[in-house]
Amino acid sequence: MATIKIFLLLLLLPPTVIFADSVAAPAPAPDNIFEKPGSLERYTYIHLYVQIINPTQPLVVRGPNNNPLGFGNMIMVDNPLTEGIDSSSKLIGREQGYTIGISRDPVFSTTINFLTLNLAFTDGEHNGSTITVMGRDPVFNAQRELMVVGGTGAFRMARGYSFWTIDSFNITGNSVVEGNIHVFHY
Ligand SMILES: *[C@@H]1O[C@H](CO)[C@@H](O)[C@H](O)[C@H]1NC(C)=O
Ligand SMILES: *[C@@H]1O[C@H](CO)[C@@H](O)[C@H](O)[C@H]1NC(C)=O
Repeated sequence: MATIKIFLLLLLLPPTVIFADSVAAPAPAPDNIFEKPGSLERYTYIHLYVQIINPTQPLVVRGPNNNPLGFGNMIMVDNPLTEGIDSSSKLIGREQGYTIGISRDPVFSTTINFLTLNLAFTDGEHNGSTITVMGRDPVFNAQRELMVVGGTGAFRMARGYSFWTIDSFNITGNSVVEGNIHVFHY
């Protein structure tokens, strides 16, 4: 009787609930997925690398009680953006902003930061324009997703999404982060 009840329950649940664990990571969107006929909105895909050097040095505010997850720690960010993974590849701009630790309890969480970052292009096809990305950053996740919330220059009225992965990590804390940014703008 119990098995019949469970079977019925499964039938009543929508497939998304039953297979919630098997949902795949989001795939990059094909070009112009959100473009509507007659709309002036355009789509730009940007692939770049962030060269992070001495990441813990610009800690400007320490959170309360030396929290082990860095809750309340504020770190200033100013890193080179390059075209390739190698730090000597073409410099196309800088990533400038700040991160703040937002997870407090080591029993329930790992370090999670809230980021506000500007990608300011100083060379290449987007020279002179900026994109602002924000969001929740669980630092130990293999892939992080941040919102594109706006931009300037060629990226006025921007919105979109971005994926970030650590490509190489150094014992000194230095790392190279790869960014895949999908921007819709006018
Ligand atoms: C980028 O733009 C700035 C001014 O916006 C200009 O001074 C500079 O020469 C440009 N760089 C390149 C490589 O085009
Ligand atoms: C690690 O960082 C040091 C200091 O910046 C640098 O000299 C070295 O090349 C880096 N190694 C790797 C594998 O990135």
